Amino acid sequence: MTPMQEDLDRVLFDEPTILRRLDELARDITAEYEGRELTVIAVLNGSFIFMADLLRRIPLPLRLDCLSVASYYGEAATTGEVVFKQIALPDVARRHILILDDILDSGLTLAAICDKLKTERPLSVKICVLLRKLKPRLRPVDADHVGFNIGDEFVVGYGLDYMERYRNLPCIGVLREDKLVQAHQA
Ligand code: IMP
Ligand code: MG
Repeated sequence: MTPMQEDLDRVLFDEPTILRRLDELARDITAEYEGRELTVIAVLNGSFIFMADLLRRIPLPLRLDCLSVASYYGEAATTGEVVFKQIALPDVARRHILILDDILDSGLTLAAICDKLKTERPLSVKICVLLRKLKPRLRPVDADHVGFNIGDEFVVGYGLDYMERYRNLPCIGVLREDKLVQAHQA
């Protein structure tokens, strides 16, 4: 076991399981957007591995833009504020937009992104997340495409971080409770 894996309470999804699910997601998305020009907007940093693996499975001509937002500030609880880290937003007017994000948790991030993009008059806006936590949202937002539903636990790996660590873990797992505390005190 690697040192990062030792910090997990348990693995939820190993790499082959994730990739098998991405095959299915990619098939659904390809069928949905066949014949239309798709613009994907990936929310960094958390979605970078998900984006790379999913988009290579979609054989459609598409445009890619990335957005960078911060809503967690290294904490394991949301601050309630969403900050857009770039001044210029991607060009979304008259385009079919698919937003890709790592996880739907409180919903604040995706609700804020949808609000912002919709002011630019896209033709359509849909959301695809790798993970959706089954819990009440702080804002009413749901995803149109979901990799996996999970419980209300703090997970890391496959792009998801805790204080910028664990993003490069190939699987998705629940972080050990004592690691959350330790990192807070560090
Ligand atoms: P929101 O609470 O839905 O706005 O989610 C905001 C962001 O918090 C997500 O895009 C993730 O980057 C991060 N986040 C939420 N839950 C988790 C988790 O369990 N592990 C790691 N990051 C998380
Ligand atoms: Mg994060």
